[in-house]
Amino acid sequence: MNNRRSFFKKSAAISLGAFGAHSLFNTLHAKEFKMAESLLNGEDGSPEDYWSVIQEAYTASKSDILILNNGGVSPSPTAVQVALERYNLTAAQGPSYYMWRIMDKGREPLRQRLAGLAGVDADEVAINRNATEALNTVIFGMPLQKGDEVIGTTLDYPNMMHAWNQRKLRDGIVYKQLVFDFPIENDDTIVKAYEQAITPKTKVIHITHIINWVGQIMPVRKISQMAHKHGIEVIVDGAHSFGLLDFKIPDLECDYFGTSLHKFLSAPLGTGMMWIKKDKIAKIFPLSGSEHPQSTDIRKFETLGTRSFCIEQAIGEAINFQEAIGSKRKEERVHFLKHYWGSQAIKIPGVRLHTSLKPEYSCAIAGVTVDGLTPQELDRALFKDFKIHTTAMVYKNVSCVRVTPHVYTSLADLDHLLEALDSIARKV
Ligand SMILES: Cc1ncc(COP(=O)(O)O)c(C=O)c1O
Repeated sequence: MNNRRSFFKKSAAISLGAFGAHSLFNTLHAKEFKMAESLLNGEDGSPEDYWSVIQEAYTASKSDILILNNGGVSPSPTAVQVALERYNLTAAQGPSYYMWRIMDKGREPLRQRLAGLAGVDADEVAINRNATEALNTVIFGMPLQKGDEVIGTTLDYPNMMHAWNQRKLRDGIVYKQLVFDFPIENDDTIVKAYEQAITPKTKVIHITHIINWVGQIMPVRKISQMAHKHGIEVIVDGAHSFGLLDFKIPDLECDYFGTSLHKFLSAPLGTGMMWIKKDKIAKIFPLSGSEHPQSTDIRKFETLGTRSFCIEQAIGEAINFQEAIGSKRKEERVHFLKHYWGSQAIKIPGVRLHTSLKPEYSCAIAGVTVDGLTPQELDRALFKDFKIHTTAMVYKNVSCVRVTPHVYTSLADLDHLLEALDSIARKV
């Protein structure tokens, strides 16, 4: 009898998961966060005291290597890691019961909380595995005819460009790609370039909210407003913006939005989200077959076969973590970190930045080079001699090393980067 009671209690705790009073965020981080918050607001504290508590919440802050490629994929705070481990251990006791019957109950509350974070209706949110899946669903699901035109850029994400090129090959659509030379500190220049490419056959504009190669923030709302005047729909790739910039999806005035959750939201690896404006859901066919492909139910996009609900459910703790910091504070902090190292780096002879330092045009990501070295050589030198992990971006008209701090990056970490750049530049 007792065993059975504890079994039911356990099952209830699993299905409440991150959204119950005993969430791992509450257990592991909430007390410290509250204390840090009071430091921030009190006379004795400094912002660095507050951020040191956030840094402590990430095991990655103590890694043997300094991770400055958070634009690729980000680590999770401890609460998310432990949640995932616990869900996995529970599922291992019998996945067909614990995962499909118990954890499954957490899917709708999770949808609600994601929707809250995104500022949209839960019936417009599908949970999936990454930004590629979300955006490919929209790209392949759209009813487009031979000759219909789509406008993107040469610096959108390859997986999305491949998808549009496949539609070109199979359906005869026309895929136009604008060429931008970033950084550009003028929204009108960007909006005009899209507008000039429009013809009576243009049906879609595809925008990458933050260009992954060099970190340019695109003026999505202005482009959407312009596009809608021409009766054109807008798809936004928000892989780098969701969980980083302080916005709600309706602020963008777009029609479709896809994002990863394993970048700036710090959710487990293999998590993503798709948002489709309610009145457009019916016309988008799911990527994986559904019994009711023309339904208005967003869940038709979740017929993904067996996948880990453990990974999905741990997203909840990442949302708790995000909300405890607050999107505005997070955006400002990460911008501050980028500005901290970027503004000092450009003073080192031979070091160049390839990204605007202004908050309107970039946040976390910035490109850097050292005269006389290829990006690959610089990336290698940073790792070999300083244990700093970055990534070389050599693609089309981009050639730099991408540096991306996150909330768990400390000023001491960035001082180490600056010393490394100075030392490397002196030796060239
Ligand atoms: C702009 C952009 N879009 C989409 C993606 C793909 O994200 P995912 O790996 O979650 O599919 C990335 C990955 O880095 C990206 O930079």
